Amino acid sequence: MRTQIGIIGAGPAGLMLSRLLLLNGIESIILENRSQEEIEGTIRAGVLEQGTVDLLISTGVGKRMLSEGSIHQGIELQFNGKRKRINMHELTNGKQITLYAQHEVIKDLVSVNQQSGIQIIFNVKNVELVDVESDTPKIHFELDGEKQEILCDYIAGCDGFHGPSRQNIPKDVRKEHHQEYPYGWLGILTNTPVVNKELIYANHERGFALLSTRSPEIQRHYLQVDPKDHIRNWSDDRIWSELHARVDTDNFCITEGPIIQKNIVSMRSFVCETMQYHRLFLAGDAAHIVPPTGAKGLNLAIADIQVLAKGFIQYYSTGQKDFLENYSDICLRRVWKAQRFSYWMTSLLHTNHLHTSFERGIQLAELDYVTSSKAAATSLAENYVGLPLEIDEKNLLSI
Ligand code: FAD
Ligand code: PHB
Repeated sequence: MRTQIGIIGAGPAGLMLSRLLLLNGIESIILENRSQEEIEGTIRAGVLEQGTVDLLISTGVGKRMLSEGSIHQGIELQFNGKRKRINMHELTNGKQITLYAQHEVIKDLVSVNQQSGIQIIFNVKNVELVDVESDTPKIHFELDGEKQEILCDYIAGCDGFHGPSRQNIPKDVRKEHHQEYPYGWLGILTNTPVVNKELIYANHERGFALLSTRSPEIQRHYLQVDPKDHIRNWSDDRIWSELHARVDTDNFCITEGPIIQKNIVSMRSFVCETMQYHRLFLAGDAAHIVPPTGAKGLNLAIADIQVLAKGFIQYYSTGQKDFLENYSDICLRRVWKAQRFSYWMTSLLHTNHLHTSFERGIQLAELDYVTSSKAAATSLAENYVGLPLEIDEKNLLSI
């Protein structure tokens, strides 16, 4: 097989990259090691920044999101048993976020891509990147027990944190930055009505809790737990009683209902510098991970591939490579800012049982400050709705 861009990974990054390339006359093939059912059923993110929403719409993938997603113009921060609203819309000149599940975005992208003839090869095994330093990189893989090869001009490593792409940048060329947190998130999906108009981020001495939503009938809630804890230790009753303890107030009591899915994820921050090596470009979780408190992971992945698509479009239409050559630098500036914000939100909201009473006092003062100072609230709001991409987004599709 031969294509222009070989894409590894059918997550939001790989699928959207392929869509942008197709709309600009550039061929790609996507390789995915899981099945279509699996990628369309994995529960992950839910918050889409305005830029992500705009891109889904402008590339013809936004129809279902527009009818089924819900728009939120603010978030609520709860501490000391009281809630304070951050009016993101007002503080950012009209920006807002959309709640629409990542696996629904995946379904929409897979469907549109398949209809337009993009080849997505599922269930591949033993993916190997070959000759990335040459002008003729290749991807080797197995499908149904048979060895296959794709010859390409460039490889886009969109294969998440555990994928093989990053390992093809030699260790002495890449610098990896890691940060672990003593926090895990226990996430549930529950068949209950919407509990609040907007997301509630609750700081509580027993641990952080987050109330989010997926649809009028399905809600998504999270509890801070020990990252080494096991989900079998959490009966549904225990989850509900912990949610009550952390989020109920004098005039709010969380609605209980059947829990249809529950799991625990650990948290980390990670950045790989550089994000490019000869003919290989990393995008999304393959290059960086943020803790979910800032709701940035999927949005960062979508931001990366917009820069990458711009680079490929410039190269194939003019022969120039300046965008491609600066890909890593352009992305990393924004990535580090999202890391800063996600780290800050995580420290602001979680309970660290090793902290002194002084550190707890500082945390509460920070919450008080951010919810009472317009300057501080504006900083939170502009980061939460998404910092600008700093490329000419309007011209992306028509360079
Ligand atoms: P992925 O979605 O990980 O996709 C990579 C793909 O590559 C996968 O399909 C994988 O199967 C495939 N792959 C891996 N190895 C191989 C291989 N060897 N061969 C072929 N294919 C391979 N982000 C937000 O923006 N907002 C949120 O609200 C938010 N909430 C979150 C909540 C939770 C609990 C979690 C865990 C994450 C959350 N995130 C959120 C983060 C977000 O889900 C990720 O950042 C996003 O999925 C990254 O997309 P990606 O395309 O880079 O990688
Ligand atoms: C979600 O709805 O899954 C969600 C919302 C906000 C976050 C993280 C996850 O910060």
